[in-house]
Amino acid sequence: MSIEKPRTLRRLHTRLASFRQLEVFLTVAEHLSVGAAAQSLHLAQPTVSTQLGRLADQVGMPLFEQLGRRLYLTPAGECLQAGCREIFEALARTDMQLSRLAGAQTGCLRIASVTTAKSLLPAYLGRFSATYPDIDIEFQIANRDALIARLKENRDELYVFSHPPTELDIVAEPFADNPLIVVAPADHPLVGRSGLHWEDLAAFPFLIRETGSGTRLSLEKACREYAWSLKPRMTIASNEAIRACVMSGLGLTVLSRHAVADELGRRLVELDVADFPLRNTWYVVHWRGKALSPVAREFLAFLQERETPA
Ligand code: PGA
Repeated sequence: MSIEKPRTLRRLHTRLASFRQLEVFLTVAEHLSVGAAAQSLHLAQPTVSTQLGRLADQVGMPLFEQLGRRLYLTPAGECLQAGCREIFEALARTDMQLSRLAGAQTGCLRIASVTTAKSLLPAYLGRFSATYPDIDIEFQIANRDALIARLKENRDELYVFSHPPTELDIVAEPFADNPLIVVAPADHPLVGRSGLHWEDLAAFPFLIRETGSGTRLSLEKACREYAWSLKPRMTIASNEAIRACVMSGLGLTVLSRHAVADELGRRLVELDVADFPLRNTWYVVHWRGKALSPVAREFLAFLQERETPA
């Protein structure tokens, strides 16, 4: 005679139907929307809802709750989400290791960077992908604060910062310079003057990045260090929008040279100001002790071997 254990006493893996079900759950949990998850998985919405219902039954607790029009994870849902991320990361790693044993360079590079690095990284990613055409790339972009949040949640394998968080147990490997420069529109009265000082800029409006941005952090640090005063006229959460505003004559700015390189000497000019450029460095970051996938390790080695692309 076999005695069946009560459902909640049976171990989780014996209660789950399939990895696909977990994938459906994780996609809904990341989007917090059944519709968006269905679209990204190319499934019908009722199929996704049915899978979620079954999974909740198997787990024995509700995974989501609907409050008004928004979907929230329950504590059980959050717990399952964290577990699923680890499971899929381990599977992806195993998949890549197996591919490697089979001699194929395949897999996915999961990398996230601060907004400013998106002007620099594509050149590296382009060369990497030309060398390893079968490797997929997932490239996420966020400002520094949002990137630290992703790092804390272990959402990606590698991160690119110029101000890596010092309070976390991470490894940060430098790979390129990140000079911050003072930028003016080509027809600005200060263009062509050499030996300017920060005080010479005081009469002109300034456009700066939002709180939470690494660029702003670096400028604020320099202001403290050199006792410069800074009265920004506009705060804008995008390098592209700041560039456009500077080109329209709305003010001066301090941005990474990488973020304006294609317009320098054309519609934008780098002013010759004492103590500039502010010297920063790009770092590629990962958790210390994290088991990196072969693809991530390959990319780290690739970054260290390359000159900064022009
Ligand atoms: P940001 O970061 O794009 O958030 O300004 C750039 C940096 O860290 O220098």
